[in-house]
Formats: sequence, C-alpha cells, structure tokens
Amino acid sequence: MKKLVVLTGAGMSAESGISTFRDSDGLWEKYRVEDVATPEAFAANPGLVLDFYNQRRNQLYTCKPNAGHRGLAELEQDFEVHIITQNVDNLHEKAGSTNVLHLHGELTKACPVDDVNTTYDILPGQEIHLGDTDRRGVQLRPFIVWFGEAVPMIEPAIRKVEESDILVVIGTSLNVYPAAGLLNYARRGQPVFLIDPNEVNTYRKDIHYIKAGASEGVGQLIQLLKKTVR
Ligand code: OAD
Repeated sequence: MKKLVVLTGAGMSAESGISTFRDSDGLWEKYRVEDVATPEAFAANPGLVLDFYNQRRNQLYTCKPNAGHRGLAELEQDFEVHIITQNVDNLHEKAGSTNVLHLHGELTKACPVDDVNTTYDILPGQEIHLGDTDRRGVQLRPFIVWFGEAVPMIEPAIRKVEESDILVVIGTSLNVYPAAGLLNYARRGQPVFLIDPNEVNTYRKDIHYIKAGASEGVGQLIQLLKKTVR
C-alpha cells in the first residue's frame, strides 16, 4: 500500500465548529497569544490560561468530526494513512483514523508542569484548576505545546513525510514553524495536494491545489486519488 501522509491544521476542524486561529473570526483575533499560549503567560496568570484551555476543551465536547475527517479515515482502506496534525482536538481519532501524531499536544490530556512526558487523560466534563496536582503535589497544566516551547514530535513527523509517497496538506496557513517546514521533506516529483478555501503561501511550486473547504476538498481528493494514484 502507498504511504499517504496528511498534515492538518485548524481549517480541518472549522466545519466541525472549532474556530481557526488566523482567519478574520479566528481565536487570535479575540485573545493575544502572549496572554494565553506561552509558558510566560502560564507563569504570570495560570488561572487565565487554565480557563482558556478549559473553555476550548468544553467546546470540543460539543463538536463532531466532519466529512473531511471521516473521508481521511476511510482512505485507510486503500492507503497506509498517517495523519500529522497541528490540532489539539481529537476529531481525527473520533472519525476513526488509527494513526494520528499530534505536533502541538492534545486538549484531552494534562501533564505536570515539570514533566511534559508524563500525561494523564482528562475525562469528559473534567477541567484543570489551580491546585490540581499529580501524586507528587506538582501542579497540572494542559498538554499543549505553547509558543516558545520545544516540539518533540517534529522528528518523527519529519521521518513520516520523508517516507511518504503522497503528501496532503489541509487547512493550515503554514505560518507556524517547525510544522510549516514539513513540506520541505516531501521528495521532489511526488504528488503533493493542498486543500484550503483560501490562498496559502507556499514556496513549493509542484502542489496540486484543491480550492475548497475540508469536507468538499477531501471528497475531491478521494476522486483524484482513485484516478491518478494506485
Ligand atoms: P490558521 O488559523 O493559521 O490557518 C487556518 C487555515 O485554515 C487557513 O489557511 C484557512 O484558509 C483555512 N481554512 C479556513 N476554513 C477552512 C475550511 N472550512 N476547510 C479547510 N481549510 C479552512 O491555523 P493553523 O495553520 O492550524 O498552535 O495554525 C497553526 C498553529 O498556530 C496552531 O496549531 C496553533 C496556532 O497558534 C498553537 O496554539 C501552539
């Protein structure tokens, strides 16, 4: 089976009702990154940061995978599909994708502030509050890669892209590194598809651009793959 690697961003989940970050109605229009998404913000005002992620998590529980997520899961019948997502939601998993790498962490997990390698599942309805600690008494934080922090999953993500036969990019403005740099690792000449309703600036000229939202775009991708790649 051909190896199909898919890099997804916030646009993948937009049709499920989750705001993107940089569109005109995006989250970063309502909040400042430096207030809620950096280690310095957490040190200065942990309650505000915990509340921001509690809200994001509570909202996630009201959302369902869209046809785009489901289409990617169905592609596992014909391809070895590897999802690399910048999203912290769990909608790829809920749609049935079995191979999902989270570059920027997961909303449904917590970790102690001194050890991002130890994670705990947060059950539906649970939140993280000041005073919630692990067994050692160390405060818990959201398992999210904040701006300025290392991205430990980037190395396995690079290897997946290097080994891919087909690369698909969906719903990311490609503004945030190192994730945006993953396109560099696709071999020259291999099929690269990009699904986004808006123009995305990329230095690669060999991209097959599908100008559509995630649900419609994945539908078009599946048709194209049936015709062109086997
Ligand atoms: P952005 O908000 O930067 O980009 C969202 C992309 O989705 C844009 O290119 C939109 O055109 C596109 N889009 C909008 N609606 C869509 C739809 N229905 N279907 C498909 N695409 C659609 O989000 P990301 O690129 O994911 O990191 O942002 C990357 C990182 O920046 C995030 O992981 C997050 C953020 O700050 C952290 O919080 C660490």
